[in-house]
Amino acid sequence: MIRKYTYGKPFQTEAVVLQQKTESGALPYFQEIKEDGTLTLTYEMDPKDVVYGLGENVRGINKRGWIYESRCMDDPVHVETCHSLYASHNFFVLSGKETFGVFVDYAGIISFDIGYTHLNQLSMTPQESDMDIYIIEGESVLDIVRQFRELVGMSYIPPKWAFGYQQCRWSYMDEDEIREVVKNHRENHIPLDSVYLDIDYMERYKDFSINEETFPKFPEFVQEMKDQHVRLVPIIDAGVKIEEGYDTYEEGVKNNYFCKNADGTDFVAGVWPGRVHFPDMLNPKARDWFGKSYKFLLDQGIEGFWNDMNEPALFYSEENLNNVFAKLGDYQGRNLDNDIYNEFLGMIHGLPNNRDDYKLFFHNVNGKMVRHDKVHNLFGYNMTRAAGEAFEELEPDKRILMFSRSSYVGMHRYGGIWMGDNKAWWAHLLMNLKMQPSLNMMGILYTGADIGGFGDDTTEDLVMRWTQFALFSPLMRNHAAMGTRYQEAYSFDNTDTFRKIIEIRYALVPYIYSEYMKAAIKNDMYFKPLSFVYPEDEHAAQVEDQLMVGESLMCAPVYTQNATGRYVYLPEDMLMIKAKGTEDYICEKMTKGHHYVEVALDEMLLFVRPGHILPLVKPADSVEQLDTDNVKVIGYKNQAASYEMYDDNGFTRNYDLDKNITTIKVSADGDVEVEGAKTLKVTTELY
Ligand code: GLC
Repeated sequence: MIRKYTYGKPFQTEAVVLQQKTESGALPYFQEIKEDGTLTLTYEMDPKDVVYGLGENVRGINKRGWIYESRCMDDPVHVETCHSLYASHNFFVLSGKETFGVFVDYAGIISFDIGYTHLNQLSMTPQESDMDIYIIEGESVLDIVRQFRELVGMSYIPPKWAFGYQQCRWSYMDEDEIREVVKNHRENHIPLDSVYLDIDYMERYKDFSINEETFPKFPEFVQEMKDQHVRLVPIIDAGVKIEEGYDTYEEGVKNNYFCKNADGTDFVAGVWPGRVHFPDMLNPKARDWFGKSYKFLLDQGIEGFWNDMNEPALFYSEENLNNVFAKLGDYQGRNLDNDIYNEFLGMIHGLPNNRDDYKLFFHNVNGKMVRHDKVHNLFGYNMTRAAGEAFEELEPDKRILMFSRSSYVGMHRYGGIWMGDNKAWWAHLLMNLKMQPSLNMMGILYTGADIGGFGDDTTEDLVMRWTQFALFSPLMRNHAAMGTRYQEAYSFDNTDTFRKIIEIRYALVPYIYSEYMKAAIKNDMYFKPLSFVYPEDEHAAQVEDQLMVGESLMCAPVYTQNATGRYVYLPEDMLMIKAKGTEDYICEKMTKGHHYVEVALDEMLLFVRPGHILPLVKPADSVEQLDTDNVKVIGYKNQAASYEMYDDNGFTRNYDLDKNITTIKVSADGDVEVEGAKTLKVTTELY
């Protein structure tokens, strides 16, 4: 059951697609406290209550014990004490003595204090009390999540090739460098489905431009890559370069499509190209225009994009930069003691992503000027929506890959996200795991972190362990920052090990794709915390380093350097697969409970649930080259089980569960029956 409560006059975020009537009574569960005009809603938690959700954030799957703030931020140092990352996902489920879900539909800044100020108190404080709050009750946490997902609409579905392995690096400078990356993968038979174009493909960082010196024959190059089953995926940034004669800039100025200063002039900030304007993503006309601009690249054969810097990130605002320059001279020749030195540094460090700068510019929302800070969290969402809505018109029969850095609830209908500028830290591998189910709760199913870590120099073992976990992520992309150690799968000594790990991903693609499609169409989660599947099991709620992956599998990655094994908790008897590769694995039946399992660096663990089977295919160099008609299923002897495999052409938008499901049934005697869409050849391996 969903009930909606309205405070003040909320800005319509359009996160919700199933409109609800506003209730007249008081908000249940919470106490309202008003102090100095600020509203705080508090709930007394039971010490055993668990809080799930809030999407992209630091810390645990259980969010208790910290204060989180929804304020989309470009902060590349994701430490435990961050309050905000790039996204705002104001939905959580409290599970325990009382169980209910809360979605605060609010475009401004809001904090969720979950046992930070008071260990057993949860409180929510919006900057202004204009918001819709949805309270959701249901039979279980998962049921509440499903209702929420119905409320906010179906998740985005990428093309099937986007379930392959993808390679990115900020600083692939030209065609030849990319050819080399592809060649190295192909020669080593490391599967690969796409290579990303970071900002270096553009002419002086201008959106919808191509550097003709480094990419002289772009459409031909796109095709050359496609002939090798590799898609190129260019980045699009939020800021549009200010430059006379540049179409996108001139069209934006002429039509008033950019965000404005209070005096009606176009707001100026600095990002990669230097001075830029921000397209007014909240103005439907500007959004339509910006979205249609992707046509420039679609027309050249591009089939996927990533939207970046859309919090929006700013290196500086022109206004603040001028103020800083004006003051700099005052410091020259002075004795910079501790206090003055810090003041001086603070001025410089206060330039990027300055909170006050977000108060300087305005959006035109149906003729009304709305100050940016009041709707800050909607910018990235609407940039991706701009693209998504345009793709529906420009490419009605084709899925286009799209994911974004910043987001708000509702963006999951138009694209996925990647988790931004993580670092080559072991802690970030574990954080990547913990974020997955919270993001799935929001409907963001197409997601993954930069494998190996984006910032800082990585190590071979970190990339290996990370790849072993990330092969379960729908978005499986290795990405690194300019200036860091190269970390492509062929860059280290043990290329064979990397090939074998990535081949496991390709063997699993039919399973991952099936589970993704079923989750998207049925408003389900692809990655789940153990406790969502085993709600009665008290130990399961404690597990923060294993996840359920679709209906048949549990994963338990190694995320500690030099570890040669790990503890694993099995909520029921399971079949353990310890794999070095698709031809090199052992299976062992294990009993419910705690186990210590040896896992060498080149090995990884998968667990198959009883009553379930795992379908696998032979790996290939790319998703398109997979033979999905010949399937091997791993399962249990003397146990009947069945699996619904979803398959389709992978690129059109008619996702029909009934038409595209093939059911594989294995009887207790081990006999196989196949029914439905496809005729499959199935072999079994039963234990
Ligand atoms: C941002 C992105 C990162 C990208 C870089 C250069 O930091 O998060 O992925 O490589 O910009 O475009």
